[in-house]
Amino acid sequence: MMIKSDSIALLKSRIDIVDVIGSYVELKRSGANFMGRCPFHEERSPSFSVSSSRGAYHCFGCGASGDVIGFVVAYEHLSFSDAVEKLADTFNIALEYEAGAVSRRKDYRPLEALKRLFLAELGRNEQASEYLKTRALSEAMIERFEIGYAPESGAQLAYLSREQIPIAAATEAGVVATDETGRSYARFTKRITFPIYSPQGVLVGFGGRTIGNHPAKYINSPQSPFFDKSRLLFAYHVAKDVIVKRKQAIVCEGYMDAVMLHQAGLNNAIATLGTALTEHHLPLLKRLGEIRIVLSYDNDQAGIDAAQKASRLLASHGFEGGVAEILGGKDPAELIAAGATKQLELAYENPRPFGRYVIDTIVSKAVSKDAAFKDISSFLNTLSPFAKESEAGYAAAQLGTDVRRFGAFGKVNNAVQRGSKRDYAELALIKTLFLNSALRESLIDYLWRDLFVVHIDLYDQICEEAALYEVLNDGEIKELSADEARDSVRKLLFGFYTRELGRLRHEGTTTAIRELQKVIARLKNGELCLFTA
Ligand code: UTP
Ligand code: MN
Repeated sequence: MMIKSDSIALLKSRIDIVDVIGSYVELKRSGANFMGRCPFHEERSPSFSVSSSRGAYHCFGCGASGDVIGFVVAYEHLSFSDAVEKLADTFNIALEYEAGAVSRRKDYRPLEALKRLFLAELGRNEQASEYLKTRALSEAMIERFEIGYAPESGAQLAYLSREQIPIAAATEAGVVATDETGRSYARFTKRITFPIYSPQGVLVGFGGRTIGNHPAKYINSPQSPFFDKSRLLFAYHVAKDVIVKRKQAIVCEGYMDAVMLHQAGLNNAIATLGTALTEHHLPLLKRLGEIRIVLSYDNDQAGIDAAQKASRLLASHGFEGGVAEILGGKDPAELIAAGATKQLELAYENPRPFGRYVIDTIVSKAVSKDAAFKDISSFLNTLSPFAKESEAGYAAAQLGTDVRRFGAFGKVNNAVQRGSKRDYAELALIKTLFLNSALRESLIDYLWRDLFVVHIDLYDQICEEAALYEVLNDGEIKELSADEARDSVRKLLFGFYTRELGRLRHEGTTTAIRELQKVIARLKNGELCLFTA
């Protein structure tokens, strides 16, 4: 099946390569581009760059490069046309094929059609609008989130047929199901409906809350490659720009929580779809820049457990932020309906940091100090070395144990120890290494910084000294005569002041510029002199 080249060009122009790669790789904004760890080779520090404007990626480490289609081909091991179709499906872009070919694109018309029907039904259904009133939901939010009402099955099937949408298409889209006898029925009935969009803003499914006494309070569209709950976040496409601006995302459990938070002006709120936060959600958060995540879960056991899991996940992936603790056994939606917005805002300004939340929970729940130690240890080992240092001190204090048992020194938190304590054995070794380069050469392979407990900083300096000595002992680098050294400094000053002049031309006074020009002229003529403003 040949896809028309016009279609491919259109697809590339409509898709942001950062959205695509960002859903596979954690990307961080870095100037005009995004950087991440290359998915095509093992690396610890990011050298994989993605440019939205050029529509291209490039790895400075392994040289991998290409456009958005090339990335999907390489990453998913797909053929070129399969990659194009996958992208077209994800972004809801229609492809045209050379004569005779049939499109495999997923059909979103059933979802769009039912969304329209649900919106209209809400206006017609007294009970549904009454229900939303009891939840204190405003008209503005009903509009913003396109909240609707799903009528009984017959009405939906009739509507689809009026809209000439085949039942098979509606079934594939997850809004119609088939019972054991082969009869089709609408999946969402007598429920308040919440349309769910992909991060790119394509309608991919619904969540529905019963307003009768159906045993399932909420149901969602069925899991499929197009509706993957572990990769979707409710309200993400509405909230993402606000999140970037406020550098904060509020993550909650329920649709109603997210909607009510928006109603209270906290429109950086998003929600998972009745599942835990997973690592597949993280790229969506990472690509919003350096943001803090505030978890605002229900104040019940399920919510507390979920907050614990999510905190571990977020901390181990280097996210900043914490858990907002809400008292009174309520969820954010209830608090806002009860007019407690101020209380929530306060909680969001002062969340308990992820690391501390995890450690506190472990300590309070552990059956023994030993068990707590083990659990905390394994948590600390999922953190970056720096985060581990800073959390280990806290954990040691909570457990009343020595921070070194965690394989850390607590030096981030424990300035006193760093500043005042002297370890004579370490110091003697460091002094010797510094003064005796031959000895240092012979011992350096047996030494690394973690061997030192107190004077790690000094050891680091010795290593830098060692690098300096390498240059000193390098016969290929010549030593300058006094005249040559003087001339070399003069040239450095000349270069530096010439660059300074460029800056002064923008922001300096004319006198300063003239003075600097004089100094540059003198340097040029061989004089060694300084500019004093
Ligand atoms: P909650 O039970 O906390 O719902 O589940 P809620 O948001 O407080 O609901 P209201 O306020 O009574 O309307 C949180 C989320 O878990 C999912 C939904 O996504 C819900 O928003 N859930 C819950 C389900 O998928 N199915 C259920 O039966 C219940
Ligand atoms: Mn809830």
